[in-house]
Amino acid sequence: MPGNTLHADYPWTSPDAPFVVAAPMMKITLGRLAVSVSANGGLGFLAGGFDLSPLAKDLGETAEFAKSQGLQLHDGILPIGVGFQNWGSDLQLALAALKEHPVAAVWFFAPKQLSDLLDWAKQIRAVSGGKTKIWVQIGTVAEALEVAKTTQPDVIVIQGADSGGHGLAQRASLLTLLPEVIDALAEERIDIPVIAAGGIVDGRGAAAALTLGAAGVALGTRFLACSEAVIAKGYQDQVLSVTDGGASTVGTTIYDVVRGIHGWPRAYNGRGIANSTYHDAEQGMSEAENVEKYETAVQQGDAGWGPEGRMTTYAGTGVGLVREVMSAGEIVKSVQKEAVQTLQRSTAKYVK
Ligand SMILES: Cc1cc2nc3c(=O)[nH]c(=O)nc-3n(C[C@H](O)[C@H](O)[C@H](O)COP(=O)(O)O)c2cc1C
Repeated sequence: MPGNTLHADYPWTSPDAPFVVAAPMMKITLGRLAVSVSANGGLGFLAGGFDLSPLAKDLGETAEFAKSQGLQLHDGILPIGVGFQNWGSDLQLALAALKEHPVAAVWFFAPKQLSDLLDWAKQIRAVSGGKTKIWVQIGTVAEALEVAKTTQPDVIVIQGADSGGHGLAQRASLLTLLPEVIDALAEERIDIPVIAAGGIVDGRGAAAALTLGAAGVALGTRFLACSEAVIAKGYQDQVLSVTDGGASTVGTTIYDVVRGIHGWPRAYNGRGIANSTYHDAEQGMSEAENVEKYETAVQQGDAGWGPEGRMTTYAGTGVGLVREVMSAGEIVKSVQKEAVQTLQRSTAKYVK
């Protein structure tokens, strides 16, 4: 039964409902969001991003907030996860923060090479006495097999092409990627639960991923529209207003260029809502001019977002399904409830 083994490892999660995760989103999913998700039967990830210098302080504040919300430590562990963008993260800073504030899981993403994750996994397991579980987000069948055989994580997150933010430029959507990864792991007799990410916004998407064999689902874009997200109003308003995400979002590296972020491995780009930064780059505007215009837009605050705006608005193709701001906890509960209803409806229709 999907989700059962995960529930045993994360005992505060709802035992009888689908396993719902808030994916790490750099600078947006911080402690309050992660705690709210975990306090409502899900698993929330605080995004460490690539600059881990504030992590120990952020985790300290998160632990205080969790306490104030009545969210108990489990076996001495804070019941949230922490996500890393491994290509630019400092392992020693991570270890120092996790030693002071042990968490239930860490989420690795986008190392310079997958073999780098071996050391990360080994050292984090050592510093937590094995209590911190290792999650790795991958984007192809080959990556899943390599990670499963080398790093041997506790969970593999499969990131399909619809996802918002960064991902491999060359990859398939969950509809084909997820079952192919599951088959490939089974063929090698590897038993690691897989979590589906990319384009899952509501209970219908969650039900589809569970039907394809996922043990749980991770949502990013949907949590851009929650009250605990650290997000500018201009950004959130655009997420709420944009529809037809396949047409209105693009995978590009220009949004990193204008923000001065240069370290992403070459195989990655970032999916965001197409705006003037992107259209001008496509029309041949120089990077220098685009950066200058971006910096002017930054001064405009919320007005820098919008169809004619220039501010980076990372979001996945599911953006058109994000229609209102809810609390993170309400999102978890509603995705769980709708997923079960959807599964029941299809079963009633087709299974006699
Ligand atoms: C704004 C934004 C920021 C993101 N930042 C990170 C990050 O810091 N680390 C990471 O592992 N993934 C990051 N992701 C990707 C998520 O982990 C996840 O794969 C994705 O959100 C799932 O697809 P969805 O957005 O369609 O739900 C980000 C996604 C978004 C939309």
